Amino acid sequence: MTRLSVNINKVATIRNARGGNVPDVLKVAMDCELFGAQGITVHPRPDERHIRYADVRALKPLVTTEFNIEGNPQPEFIKLVLEVKPHQVTLVPDAPDALTSNQGWDTIKHASFLKQVIAEFHQHGIRTSIFVDPIPEMARAAADTGTDRVELYTESYATRFFNNPEEAIAPFVETARAAYAAGLGINAGHDLSLDNLTYFVKHIPNLLEVSIGHALISEALYLGLQETIRRYLQALQ
Ligand code: PXP
Repeated sequence: MTRLSVNINKVATIRNARGGNVPDVLKVAMDCELFGAQGITVHPRPDERHIRYADVRALKPLVTTEFNIEGNPQPEFIKLVLEVKPHQVTLVPDAPDALTSNQGWDTIKHASFLKQVIAEFHQHGIRTSIFVDPIPEMARAAADTGTDRVELYTESYATRFFNNPEEAIAPFVETARAAYAAGLGINAGHDLSLDNLTYFVKHIPNLLEVSIGHALISEALYLGLQETIRRYLQALQ
């Protein structure tokens, strides 16, 4: 079964709007697990406008499922990940001022850099995943970096899904096939929601994990967190 990792950045964004500790990010993470989520994802950015580095440190002893830290492997981020030692680090080439992750790695152009940081994470026993666009060559070249997994960047799927689901999914099927053939595990994320998740999971075999934040937290405003997570788990079955 594909595992659900809840990205709690949005919860931190709401908290940061008032400067206090409401909502309590740590409690939300633990409740997500209580409600059945199989992982917690955080994406610390250099300006800490969403999750903060201190949150990531505080989460480490509390998270009992899989802890996944995403981000651009710049020196401060690498230092944090090596200190916290999550189960998985997902490498994302996002610029510091990007509103959200907006592209996958060019795994050919950045091969030597990726190889070097992946080796460092592996030395500390941390599984690695590389965020990639739905392009088979990018998945194949990702395998040459030594990474364990790729995370398929699903924004284009989500955007095109309502008009033409078959066309929207096609590049993801091809890229997932290429990744699997190259021996990589497959994760996916960005703009996945209760509306588009079932179709995605149905068409991408061997999908190990999805990380979902924005839609899940937005849907929870109407459904509540427990019911929302229940529906995601059902969609993933
Ligand atoms: N994967 C990566 C690499 C991301 O940067 C994000 C957003 O921070 C997600 C997945 C989750 O995207 P969303 O918040 O749209 O569910």
